Amino acid sequence: MKLTPRLQAMAELIPPGSIVADIGTDHAYLPVYLVLNKISRWVVAVDLNQAPLQQAKETVVAFNCLQEVDLRLGNGLHAIKEADKIDIVVIAGLGGKSIAAILRDGRHLLKGVQQLILQPMSEEGDLRLFLARNGFALAHETLAREGRRIYEIILAKAGQEQETDLFRLSFGPRLLEQKPPLLSVFLEEKIRKLKIIYHCLQRAKKDDVSLKLQEVEREIYCLEEVLTDVAAGTDLD
Ligand SMILES: C[S@@+](CC[C@H](N)C(=O)[O-])C[C@H]1O[C@@H](n2cnc3c(N)ncnc32)[C@H](O)[C@@H]1O
Repeated sequence: MKLTPRLQAMAELIPPGSIVADIGTDHAYLPVYLVLNKISRWVVAVDLNQAPLQQAKETVVAFNCLQEVDLRLGNGLHAIKEADKIDIVVIAGLGGKSIAAILRDGRHLLKGVQQLILQPMSEEGDLRLFLARNGFALAHETLAREGRRIYEIILAKAGQEQETDLFRLSFGPRLLEQKPPLLSVFLEEKIRKLKIIYHCLQRAKKDDVSLKLQEVEREIYCLEEVLTDVAAGTDLD
């Protein structure tokens, strides 16, 4: 089985021997890949809805992994038990605020879990702020590209996040420090989208947009500064 670059980037963060819970598994590609490649001997694959769980079952059956992938219908972390001895929780393909809600709701079920691998589809900054304010450190961050889209992947652990600057924290402090190869393209794309938003706001000509305009302008300025530093190879730490 070959994973897409986004799922592959997450799989590469999972140490061999880990017991993984994939929350919001849908097609169950990641659990099956982990088992087939002997990264995990057992994975719990959870979905809230019957239809995606059925799809997960079809993948698991097709690859003959029914013994190793435990399919569970359930809501977020409530589907896992202490006895599962989960090492790593993966939550991917949901909005950042939904991921934060799942973590908040099932915080007590994370006892014994060593790492969270999170891949928000939106509201990435909100998720980072939630993590930092709720006792998680952003241990590692990376980017993965599929077609034109670049996805952010966050590896979080229980602990105190050291970054306090709000812009750096919501952008991704480890991305700024570790500068993965896709960082420049990622920044350019973010700036391009913000400029479109800026021009739309300008054209709206409503009084109440002036604050939002200032915010967007400030964000473009900060991102352009980072991009200049990355291009010049300057240390951003
Ligand atoms: C877009 S799919 C992502 C699939 C896969 N994780 C990926 O990244 O490719 C999101 C899945 O999360 C499931 N989901 C949404 N909220 C959930 C929750 N609270 N608990 C478990 N699953 C949830 C949905 O039913 C859906 O199948």
